[in-house]
Amino acid sequence: MKDFLDRRIHDLEAAGLRRSLRPLTSPQGREIVLEGRRVLNFCSNDYLGLAADPRLAQAAKEALGRRGFGAGASRLVCGDIDEHEALEDELAQFKHAEASLLFSCGHMANTGIIPSLVGRGDAVFADKLNHASLVDGVMLSRAAFHRYPHARMDVLEDMLNKAEDIPRKLIVTDTVFSMDGDVAPLGDLCALAKKYDAWVMVDEAHAFGVLGPTGAGLVEEMSLGDAVHVQMGTLSKAAGSYGAYGAGSRALKEVLLNTARSFIFTTGLPPLVAAASRCALGIMRAESWRRSTLIENARCMRAALQQAGFDTGHSTTPIIPVMIKDAARAADISRKLLARGFFVSAIRPPTVPVNTARLRVTVTALHTAEDITGCVEALKDVF
Ligand SMILES: Cc1ncc(COP(=O)(O)O)c(C=O)c1O
Repeated sequence: MKDFLDRRIHDLEAAGLRRSLRPLTSPQGREIVLEGRRVLNFCSNDYLGLAADPRLAQAAKEALGRRGFGAGASRLVCGDIDEHEALEDELAQFKHAEASLLFSCGHMANTGIIPSLVGRGDAVFADKLNHASLVDGVMLSRAAFHRYPHARMDVLEDMLNKAEDIPRKLIVTDTVFSMDGDVAPLGDLCALAKKYDAWVMVDEAHAFGVLGPTGAGLVEEMSLGDAVHVQMGTLSKAAGSYGAYGAGSRALKEVLLNTARSFIFTTGLPPLVAAASRCALGIMRAESWRRSTLIENARCMRAALQQAGFDTGHSTTPIIPVMIKDAARAADISRKLLARGFFVSAIRPPTVPVNTARLRVTVTALHTAEDITGCVEALKDVF
C-alpha cells in the first residue's frame, strides 16, 4: 500500500491539488489566528457571525449541566433527549413546515433523505453543480441519475419528458450554489416538477439564515413552500452551530425517521449542540440587522471586485467566486493574500470542474467596509 499512497500524494502535488489542514488557534470570526498569525477571514460560512457568539456558548454550557455531553446512542434506541425535539419543532416553525427531522450534519441529511424517497427503478434529476453530498445521496439510492447542465431548465424539461414512465421522479437542487453563489431558478424548476409530476428536494445550506423575509431561505423568498416537498438545510453555516434538518410534512418526517439510514444508524447529536442551535435560531429571529448587514457587505464586495475587473460569475449572495481557472495559480494567489493578512481559500477540482479553479470569497455580517476595501486592494496587488 505504501507505494500506492506515495504515488497518490505525488500525483496530487504535481497537479496542484494537494490539500493540507492549517492550524487555527482562535474562535471563528472576522479575524482569526491562522498558523500563528492574525488574519482577516474571508472564507467561512459563518455568515451571520454567530459561530463564536458567547450566547451560543452559554446555551451549550447550560445544556451541558442539564443533560451531560453524549447522546448515548441512536435517538431511536435509548430515549430521545428533549433538546432535539424542541429544536425540531422550532426549525419546523422557522421553515414554515409541518415538521422537521434533525440529522447529525448536512452530508448525512442528504445521504439519508434521498435513498429514503427513491430507489432502483426511480429517477433523480440534479443540477451538475449540486453539492457533493447530494451526489452521494443519489448514488446511494441506486436510482437512475440524470444531471442537467447548471440551471438549464430546457435540458431538465427534455429529461423529464423522456422519463414519463418512471414511477418516482425527484428533482434535487442547491438553492444557493456553494462554490458559485448564484441561486437556482426555483420558480421554473417547480413549474416543471408540477407539469411532469416530479417531487422537489432543495438543499438550503447556504440560503438558511441568509435569504427570505425572515431568513428561512430561498423557498421562503420565492413563496414556493407548497411546491417544494423536502427542504434540507444545515445549522453549521449561518446558524454558527452544527447539524442539519429535513423539513416538510409530518408524513415525510415519519418516513425519514423510519427509513433514513444516516438517522437510524448513528448516535444523536450531543444535546448541547442542539441547545446552541436553538439559541442561534432565537438570535436569527431577533437580530435581523445581521442579515441586512450581510447582504449589504456582499453587495459592496461584489461591486468592488467587479469594478477592479474580476470575474465574479453569477453570484448574487455572500458567496462570491473570483474566477482564476488554473488550480496552481489560484493556490498561489491565495498564499500571497494570506501573506498580506487576508485569508481567502482557493477552490480547486474536484470540488469544482477542471479549469474553473477560483478564489471563494465569502463575507459575513461582521466585516467592515475597510475590511472589504483592504481585501480587494490586496487582491488587485497580487493578481
Ligand atoms: C450545499 C451544501 N450542502 C450540504 C453541505 C454539508 O453540510 P455539513 O457541513 O453540515 O455536512 C454543505 C457544506 O458543508 C453544503 O455546502
